[in-house]
Amino acid sequence: MSFLSEIIICPVCNRALNTIAENCEFCASFDPKQLEQVNSWIDLTPPISIQKKPLRTEIFRSFWISFFYEKILPPIWALGLRNYGGGIDQEIKEVLNYFGSNLKIVLDLSCGTGIMARSLAQSQLYEHTLAIDYSETMLAVLQQEIIKAKISHLNLTAIRADVEALPLQDNSIDAIYCGAAMHCWENPDLAIQNIYRVLRSGGKLYLTTFLQPLPSLIFRFFSPQELNEIFSNAGFLKDSLAIQSRGVYGIVKCTKD
Ligand SMILES: C[S@@+](CC[C@H](N)C(=O)[O-])C[C@H]1O[C@@H](n2cnc3c(N)ncnc32)[C@H](O)[C@@H]1O
Repeated sequence: MSFLSEIIICPVCNRALNTIAENCEFCASFDPKQLEQVNSWIDLTPPISIQKKPLRTEIFRSFWISFFYEKILPPIWALGLRNYGGGIDQEIKEVLNYFGSNLKIVLDLSCGTGIMARSLAQSQLYEHTLAIDYSETMLAVLQQEIIKAKISHLNLTAIRADVEALPLQDNSIDAIYCGAAMHCWENPDLAIQNIYRVLRSGGKLYLTTFLQPLPSLIFRFFSPQELNEIFSNAGFLKDSLAIQSRGVYGIVKCTKD
């Protein structure tokens, strides 16, 4: 899995994790062998992230939310909340179609239990799929599902990381899917800047989130205009940006110039 050491960086000092640590506590304590023998997720959360995040992020670290996430939510989405009832299955078809084939590394960011990551890996259209989430309990469920589905760690690597300190090299990822997560992040502007940074030129992003008029009580919901600003401020050119509303479900598709 040597390619992992080429694309993964330290979430604190941003240097490649296989370089000699100089004055970086995270690098000094990280064993690069973890990048070679992956049989669980790799933890790349910076120490600062151990501090509590807002409830809209922390809630997904609860065992019970993660345990039931995949069993309870997909049928609810299919009633109409996600994709007018097409739910996650429709999204998987759209994403596979949008990404196309012959890509090297695709990423399911804020993957939750990794429904999309598993589908990307099982499609065999890509050399490698990365699944990143901040919640260790979500990743534990993903781990069980990877074993159940007999997906090899040679095809799918799970990483615990914070989208706001994304431990990936610039221009290293061919396509990113990010489903129903932006409204859960603490700092969406910083997160989208990171997504822009790690996508390679010509790389595609397919991102979904829930929209106003849903009220921002726990989660932070966006208007299409706000999304437009956040993505263009991060560097995505306005004419590469397509923002679609399906009721209160928003889909952003864009390509890095
Ligand atoms: C509503 S779930 C969506 C899961 C999945 N992508 C889906 O489409 O169903 C939101 C996910 O975002 C993750 N998340 C929240 N804040 C994050 C952060 N700062 N970095 C990475 N993931 C984060 C949560 O742990 C949770 O798994």
